[in-house]
Amino acid sequence: MPVLKVIDRDGAEHDVEARSGLKLMEPLRELDYGIAAICGGMCSCATCHVYIDPEWATRLPPAMSDERELLSELAHLKPGSRLSCQVEMTDSLAGMRVTIAPDE
Ligand code: FES
Repeated sequence: MPVLKVIDRDGAEHDVEARSGLKLMEPLRELDYGIAAICGGMCSCATCHVYIDPEWATRLPPAMSDERELLSELAHLKPGSRLSCQVEMTDSLAGMRVTIAPDE
């Protein structure tokens, strides 16, 4: 199972298992320091906002228009911003660094 490097809002780094085929949101919302994911992955709340490290961001499929639209409304938008409910885990993403974005 791929293991991610997850950086919480306090800057602490954690190893987190993320099963291939699941959305990145799934393991992150199980964490005490993780995301809220209030809409459950419907791409309508943006409480699953994360930053993907630059070296990994280009390896992900690009965001679709509804994800891009929601991201564009966020105050904490940065390069590497993604909605984790729209990112599917694969084995090739083992080691990816993901930072939990601040609450909006
Ligand atoms: S969980 Fe709501 S937009 Fe991702």
